[in-house]
Amino acid sequence: MQDKTHLVDEITGHRRMRRNRKADWTRRMVQENRLTVDDLIWPIFLVPGSGIVDPIPAMPGVNRLSIDKAVEAVKEAADLGIPAIATFPNIEMTLRDETGSHSLAADNLINQATAAIKKAVPGIGIITDAALDPFTSHGHDGILRGDEIVNDETVEQVVRVAVMQADAGADIISPSEMMDGRIGAIRRGLDAAGHQNVGIMSYATKFSSGFYGPYREAICTDGLLKGDKNSYYISPANGTEAMRDAALDVEEGADMLMVKPGLAYLDICWRLKEAYGLPTFAYQVSGEYTQIKAAAMNGWIDGERVMMETLLCFKRAGCDGILSYFAVEAAKILAGRP
Ligand code: PBG
Repeated sequence: MQDKTHLVDEITGHRRMRRNRKADWTRRMVQENRLTVDDLIWPIFLVPGSGIVDPIPAMPGVNRLSIDKAVEAVKEAADLGIPAIATFPNIEMTLRDETGSHSLAADNLINQATAAIKKAVPGIGIITDAALDPFTSHGHDGILRGDEIVNDETVEQVVRVAVMQADAGADIISPSEMMDGRIGAIRRGLDAAGHQNVGIMSYATKFSSGFYGPYREAICTDGLLKGDKNSYYISPANGTEAMRDAALDVEEGADMLMVKPGLAYLDICWRLKEAYGLPTFAYQVSGEYTQIKAAAMNGWIDGERVMMETLLCFKRAGCDGILSYFAVEAAKILAGRP
């Protein structure tokens, strides 16, 4: 026994990492990162009508909510201390067309929800997406001409959508459609409309990812999408290109940056935070949520533990917060509530 200790000390030079890990109190003392409720942004899905709580099959535990139910849910989130929500609409198929024209209706589902939530729960931040995909008949984020998603025309429309969302009470515009020049254009559009205090959280690096599958089911774009989004989202192979894309958004006036998806892209989170120092967020997307839920439901992993671990790892990777469908569940655990 004595000999063995001697042997290890010879190798480690008496440096033993486990001294700081030996007890709960030492572990707490040396903990570098902590998850708090302030780190959690909750994305929610909206549907027209009232009294509707419609489960999304590929996202167990996540529902599409009519505005009245969304207001109730957001109240609960605010009570838990969640600082902000992000809204995504699942609108009627009959309202979807080639150019996503319903995105420009002042009283569309997203704007109605913003107004209702703002009124009922004024203390929570509302983040809206100005992309066109919930409104197009082809499921693309922009205007489709022939087989091209046209950039500049889409940006023009996205700016108008953003201004209307701000008019309805949105606090942060978060454009996810990855068109070139959109951040600067939205900033100018918001300012010209008197919305100097409305911020922009850029989906600075949005990757062309298979992890979005369940989201497309949630807003019913899965059956619509023609082709893929590779001509505007970033390839999962490209980190340096993602940095260049984000650099443009920073120059154009983004207040905050987002990386999407999250867990497979932690290197990008870290690089962005190091390079720009802007508030940096990760979006733990639908497929990431579903993976954890499905494995947990099968009893193959401890779902709660993996959920909390992944959320904490975003903090370690430099993120200031996480958009996650787990937000409410995690906030309850952090608050010690059932
Ligand atoms: C599209 C959009 C996507 C998500 C939100 N807005 C991706 C897509 O459909 O291509 C994904 C969110 C998620 O997967 O949770 N503008």
